Order: sequence, then structure tokens, then C-alpha cells
Amino acid sequence: MKPKSDAQLEQSLTELARFARLARKRAHAPFSNFAVGAALKTFSGEIVLGCNIENATYGLTVCAERVAVFKAISEGIKKFEAIAIAAPSKRPAAPCGACRQILWEFCGDIWIHMDSLRGRTLTRRLSELLPLPFDRRNL
Ligand code: THU
Repeated sequence: MKPKSDAQLEQSLTELARFARLARKRAHAPFSNFAVGAALKTFSGEIVLGCNIENATYGLTVCAERVAVFKAISEGIKKFEAIAIAAPSKRPAAPCGACRQILWEFCGDIWIHMDSLRGRTLTRRLSELLPLPFDRRNL
């Protein structure tokens, strides 16, 4: 696959963030009122959405990123290029530690595009957010 230019990458991540914003609409977040959406994109252009799903026991809550990854994996969808995350916070919300580890397991060093909904975005490679992951090389 032809490598993307910076401008192409920025454009495709901005488009992906639109899907992440749409995904927020399905969030089940009655306890935090913090609706998060994620859009996971494969190299071939497929997009899988996820939203956070909370539970009255709180601890069973699953973040939007993990919902997207598990949906994709369970459908046999692999080889991910990027994930966009949309959350209603002042500063772009970075994935939690558990999600970083799951993203590393299934997506490797993908682009993470964080969208604050207030015009602030941040794009990083997962290796910048999780510099020393635990993975199969440790086993
Ligand atoms: N949450 C996500 O879905 N993704 C993140 O990256 C951070 C946090 C969810 C979990 C919970 O439902 C709500 O946001 C507040 O923590």
C-alpha cells in the first residue's frame, strides 16, 4: 500500500473522527454522562464503530475503544490503520491504560486520533502512548 502523505493522513483522520462522533450517539453512559465514540479503520477502508457501555456496578463498564476492537475481532476484521476517539472533554481524551494494552494486542502501532468535540485534536502513534507494552515477546 502506498504510504500516505501528512495531508492525506490528516484528512482521513478527520473523516474518521466524524464516524467516532456518530458512534457516541449509541453510548450507554447514564452514570458518567460522558458519551465516548470510537471508529476503528482497517487498511482496506472498513470502519468499525464502538461506544462506551456502562453498568450499574461501574467496574463492568467497557470503553468505546475496546468495544470497537472486540466487535472487529469477533467479525474476523483485522489489520488496522487508525482509531479515532471522540469525547466531550476540554482536552482530547486519550485511551485509558487497559484500552492501550488491548489496542496494542490487536492493532499494533496504529494511529490514535483524539477529538475533543471543541475543535481540539491530538494525533499520536500508539507506541508514543504505550512505550513499553507487555506483549507476546515477554512470554
Ligand atoms: N471511556 C471511554 O469509553 N474511553 C476512554 O478512552 C476513556 C473513558 C468511558 C468509560 C466510562 O463509561 C466513561 O468514559 C467515563 O470514564
